[in-house]
Amino acid sequence: MIFSWEKIIEEILVKKGKVFLLGESDSGKTTFAKTLVTKAIQKGILVGWVDADIGQSTIGPPTCIGLSLISPQSPEFKISSLYFVGNTSPHGRFVPLIMGAKKLVDIASKESNLVVIDTTGAVTGEFGQTLKYQKILACKPNYVLAFQKEKELEKITDVIKKFNFLKIYFMEIPENIRVRTREERAKNRQERFKLYFKNSKLHTLIKKDYAFYPSLDFLLSENPDNLIVGLKNSSGEFLALAIFIKQYNEEIEILTPLVNIENIAVLEFGNIRINQDGEQLEYISINNGTFYNEEG
Ligand SMILES: Nc1ncnc2c1ncn2[C@@H]1O[C@H](COP(=O)(O)OP(=O)(O)OP(=O)(O)O)[C@@H](O)[C@H]1O
Ligand SMILES: [Mg+2]
Repeated sequence: MIFSWEKIIEEILVKKGKVFLLGESDSGKTTFAKTLVTKAIQKGILVGWVDADIGQSTIGPPTCIGLSLISPQSPEFKISSLYFVGNTSPHGRFVPLIMGAKKLVDIASKESNLVVIDTTGAVTGEFGQTLKYQKILACKPNYVLAFQKEKELEKITDVIKKFNFLKIYFMEIPENIRVRTREERAKNRQERFKLYFKNSKLHTLIKKDYAFYPSLDFLLSENPDNLIVGLKNSSGEFLALAIFIKQYNEEIEILTPLVNIENIAVLEFGNIRINQDGEQLEYISINNGTFYNEEG
């Protein structure tokens, strides 16, 4: 059975809880999230919007999961928290993507009554199925809204329908939905990065005062220039994104909007290079040459 958006929104606004949006790219997930969030705050409900779409982000920059806690008193979608994943696609990043989604969903659940979880369009093959299945197990939503065009979600929904903590609804797909081209998606990501790095400054850091993950030696086969970096403090909390600009013998140069750079403890490399204009240049595998060879 296919449900209309109005009907499901009506039910969710009464029951509240955690709502997980599942569907391939351009299936209407983000449009639905915006509609639901807007209606919820109009009704005076405190909402936590977790944006786990690290490519086509709504909350915060690409490569990060974003959380916005939205109260009816200040209904803007301000960033409340970010979790660094390190890529604009889940490739090579399942662990931080699932960990980060769980972490922000847990914060959102504590701070609000309704949690909306938007996700990437990766839903098919072993890759998409594993990711979404594990993410659903980690986030434990009360509702999974399946935006299915043909049968592409069945491998996931056939399993999760056995879970007694969630309800699955197959949702109407808007008729005149627009499929965005690769170029439009790239352009959108660039705009998001540009906005994030708008007031950034160059900073010189002394290498020996910081830890790098993976280590700088480890990256030697890949020069680190232009890699996206997650800056973390000594509690392991994410501070801000940076772009690695250049390394010298004893120093490195980064570009970041972070003002208090004295709290940086760890620089965590992501898998993509971007230029100072926010344009994504290439993907690199930072695990190159370090395969785990042992069996068992
Ligand atoms: N009811 C509608 N009428 C017309 N256009 C729509 C409608 N709903 C969504 N769209 C458009 O269709 C496109 C895809 O929708 P949306 O961004 O919600 O999909 P998505 O599932 O979040 O995709 P992605 O996984 O790529 O983020 C968007 O450009 C959106 O503006
Ligand atoms: Mg979306």
